[in-house]
Amino acid sequence: MRIGVLTGGGDCPGLNAVIRAVVRKGVASYGHEFVGFQDGWKGPLEGLSRPLGIAEVRGILPRGGTILGSSRTNPFKIENGVERIKDNLAAQGVDALIAIGGEDTLGVATKLHELGVNVIGVPKTIDNDLGATDYTFGFDTAVNIAMEAIDRLHTTAESHHRTLVVEVMGRHAGWIALHAGLAGGANVILLPERNFDVEQVAGYVEKRFQHQYAPIVVVAEGAQPLEGQMVLQNQELDAFGHVRLGGIGQWLAEQLEAKTGKEARTVVLGHIQRGGTPTAFDRVLATRLGLQAIDAAHEGDWGKMVAMQSTNIVRVPLADATAELKTVPLERYAEAEVFFGS
Ligand code: F6P
Repeated sequence: MRIGVLTGGGDCPGLNAVIRAVVRKGVASYGHEFVGFQDGWKGPLEGLSRPLGIAEVRGILPRGGTILGSSRTNPFKIENGVERIKDNLAAQGVDALIAIGGEDTLGVATKLHELGVNVIGVPKTIDNDLGATDYTFGFDTAVNIAMEAIDRLHTTAESHHRTLVVEVMGRHAGWIALHAGLAGGANVILLPERNFDVEQVAGYVEKRFQHQYAPIVVVAEGAQPLEGQMVLQNQELDAFGHVRLGGIGQWLAEQLEAKTGKEARTVVLGHIQRGGTPTAFDRVLATRLGLQAIDAAHEGDWGKMVAMQSTNIVRVPLADATAELKTVPLERYAEAEVFFGS
């Protein structure tokens, strides 16, 4: 079989580990050939490909990003997009695709499968918000980066008796904020799953200062104040209809400074959370998902996504991954609330 591989959407650490596992097992165990499609769905749409063999995947396990490039191209928003993909796959003799991506990339994969394209999906996102899988690779790395940043911010916040507000990614799910905040000992964690009361947050901050410690407030980029408008960087939508989030940290710091009279500063971690080498957890998860994906392709088990459930790697229908956003249950948030303001 000749199999195309692509990575779509926001990059994350571990993508190269999947590509490596797919190619290494596919060539060695099954004798398949591979084509690397460039920049997500743009690759098969425009016929942009590159060779992908054992030589091309040597040494990429620890490397962040993706050797194939990525984009947020949506072929369903482009005239004759599906026909163009089918034509390009046929022209390059490609029998099947392994698509590595999040909600958007796998949403396209699901529809293409329904239209007769042989596809296997591999879930990835630092946001950890995909259904049907307990964890996505990239998440653990992002959490560790944010945790280390919070550790560092504690010492400077204490020295200057300031509030430090740390804005983390995660889109409309608070997983990164929750885990990084818990691991980093934040004094308050604010998630998109529950609108926050600025007065209450200011109360937590004041209490922390009374204990002679400076507060660290972790806020997810998608968090919103009660009855407030979400703070957006701009109102433009991408090809999948998403707004670009960001700005809530700065807004909150201004509010806290005004309400508490203590200086408050903001740190926006941004793409630092997505860059660099994956953690061991993410390398292992990405590798195991890649191995299962090539097994599924070899068996012709099309329309499946490989997933982590408990400690097992299983196959689920592609549509299950994107049916519902996996957000933080409020009971999980309650665990963290015990530590707020103390
Ligand atoms: O989905 C991953 C993610 O990093 C989100 O956490 C964030 O909102 C978004 O992508 C940022 O997208 P971009 O890289 O296009 O700015």
